[in-house]
Amino acid sequence: MSNTDNPHGKPWGGRFSEGTDALVEAFSESVSFDRRLYAQDIAGSKAHARMLGRAGVLSDTEVTAIVEGLDVIQQEIEGGHFNWSTRLEDVHMNIEACLTDRIGEAGKKLHTGRSRNDQVATDVRLYLREAIDVLDGELKKLQQALVDLAEREVDSVMPGFTHLQVAQPVSFGHHMLAWFEMTVRDRARLADVRKRVNVLPLGAAALAGTTYPIDRVFVAEQLGFDGVTENSLDSVSDRDFAIEFTAAASLIMMHLSRWSEELILWASSQFGFVNLPDRFCTGSSIMPQKKNPDVPELVRGKTGRVYGDLTALLTLMKGQPLAYNRDNQEDKEPLFDAIDTVLASVSLFAAMIPHIEVKREACRKAAAQGFSTATDLADYLVRKGVPFRDAHAVVGRSVQFAMQQGRDLAELELSELQQFSDVIAEDVFEVLTLEGSLAARNHIGGTAPEQVRAAAARARSRIT
Ligand code: ARG
Repeated sequence: MSNTDNPHGKPWGGRFSEGTDALVEAFSESVSFDRRLYAQDIAGSKAHARMLGRAGVLSDTEVTAIVEGLDVIQQEIEGGHFNWSTRLEDVHMNIEACLTDRIGEAGKKLHTGRSRNDQVATDVRLYLREAIDVLDGELKKLQQALVDLAEREVDSVMPGFTHLQVAQPVSFGHHMLAWFEMTVRDRARLADVRKRVNVLPLGAAALAGTTYPIDRVFVAEQLGFDGVTENSLDSVSDRDFAIEFTAAASLIMMHLSRWSEELILWASSQFGFVNLPDRFCTGSSIMPQKKNPDVPELVRGKTGRVYGDLTALLTLMKGQPLAYNRDNQEDKEPLFDAIDTVLASVSLFAAMIPHIEVKREACRKAAAQGFSTATDLADYLVRKGVPFRDAHAVVGRSVQFAMQQGRDLAELELSELQQFSDVIAEDVFEVLTLEGSLAARNHIGGTAPEQVRAAAARARSRIT
């Protein structure tokens, strides 16, 4: 490459009378982080070159030289032999300059009819589309693990909580299927985001389109896009698709963070509901007895990072006039961070959930405490004709009495219960059992084992 080709060492150096300040070069380079777009950049360039060939802008020989040259560059990058240069700013100019070094004149023609503005928008969309597909695959694995666990634990009873106080007994499987439902919505949100990500912006060029006879639909087909963007200014400018993804990722993290909180509590000796596999925990350097739930703790902690990425992206866009501004270069680090963090977190959950050991006896014992069947007693009184508010008060007094005695409702004598209402009979003890309580909630969405078994079967068939 001679100096006339690249004044001041920059592909755009022609109108400049001095080289870039070293501080500016260091400040404005993006290749240190956007090089991860290399495969998408090369795929986009190959499709663009083929399109220019069909349009008669490039000769067949030039197209072949470009495509083959880009293939070699891709191998070099993947082999770790590519020499990335911050002087060439970004992934796009690094690859283009290397191509020209290798194949000469034809390489200089690749950028005909496009701009880095539509190029980078294309690369990011391609990258994000792949990331969404990988993430969706991991969520699917997590769903399978949840349904397996739910089916295994349909008949295990645990306390259901409100306000973190024992409320009513539930099936452990039912609790797992609550998590499952969240993943269904998470995946639906990703699928929806993907529709808006998978539209080709290339052809917008710098901002207004290009004077060459380009065929955008051909490029879209080559790259697997569902269609082409409608407006050139919008195409190079908006990053709402990245924001949408990061919002969807934030919701996934929010869900994982809540599950993490539950797993951390459940794995504690105070709850003792589950045992997390050793290989997903770590020990303490000072306390030999410790086994810490680091994975859920880190997932809970990393949730904040993804929320931060979302805030960064929203703030990045809010002051920008149309069309492209260099601000947009700042979209990549938060987006990549959100992708990396959510993917690692979901993958870890998908790997860990199948190996969670449920301590059924401890769960059951906890469910039997805290007067968890008090509502069942109220419902029993209602069935015997007592108005619900009166029934509520009767049970309240029974609970107070049992507490003073240090006994549970089911441990009271019939005669003791009858002090509070004379409609109470021997059959009351059926409703005071955990099994009776669960079985009574026998409708779609309820915790009766029969329902949970059916819900798990439906859940399995809903995994697509
Ligand atoms: N590195 C830039 C980015 O990520 C590429 C586009 C630069 N365009 C420009 N006109 N400076 O946004």
